[in-house]
Amino acid sequence: MNIVANVGPALTLEVAEATSIAELQHQTEGCTRCDLYRNATQIVFGEGPGKAEIVLVGEQPGDQEDLTGKPFVGPAGRLLDRCLDEAGLDRRRCYVTNAVRHFKFTPRGKRRLHAKPNAGEIRRCAWWLGAEINILQPKLVVTLGASAPYALLGPKVKLTPQRGHILQPTNRRPVLVTIHPSYLLRIRDEADQRRQHLDFVSDLHKAVEFQSS
Ligand code: URA
Repeated sequence: MNIVANVGPALTLEVAEATSIAELQHQTEGCTRCDLYRNATQIVFGEGPGKAEIVLVGEQPGDQEDLTGKPFVGPAGRLLDRCLDEAGLDRRRCYVTNAVRHFKFTPRGKRRLHAKPNAGEIRRCAWWLGAEINILQPKLVVTLGASAPYALLGPKVKLTPQRGHILQPTNRRPVLVTIHPSYLLRIRDEADQRRQHLDFVSDLHKAVEFQSS
């Protein structure tokens, strides 16, 4: 497969110590590692089978995820489900999680508008993400958007040039870098939207190929 690029060692991550996902989830409850817990309703932990070969990592919970406590259940999640389906990936067989576990938002009237997590918040939360991946030991990690590769691989890995590539750090699980489905939701031009949608599905299909290689 021509898509695996050896990228040397990824940055060292300090991560939580836990031997199971249940133990790790228990540790995250009441997390105050950054200030985002102050305004969020609850922590949103990852979800999926412990034997999942593919782990999908988004950015952070949105409004609906914050209210339900489940990852990717809002508009971006529904679009992700559709794209996974089109790529031949069954979400129920993937583990779905986020780089940051509390919803960061700006209040605007009755609405809560998504606010991007900053580098410090992403780094503090990598404590949980790194541990989650260490426990799961998936065949492939798929990062959605810019925050997840930043959390796992550091600032040298940029979304645009690496998008669609599977990166193999010497000290980590392989990582397929792709866009976040919420990006597709923001595209106004129909033709562009369609093109980007197909490109995203094609990226996800690389995970299917990698999984069966
Ligand atoms: N966007 C994300 O990155 N994660 C979610 O769980 C929902 C939306």
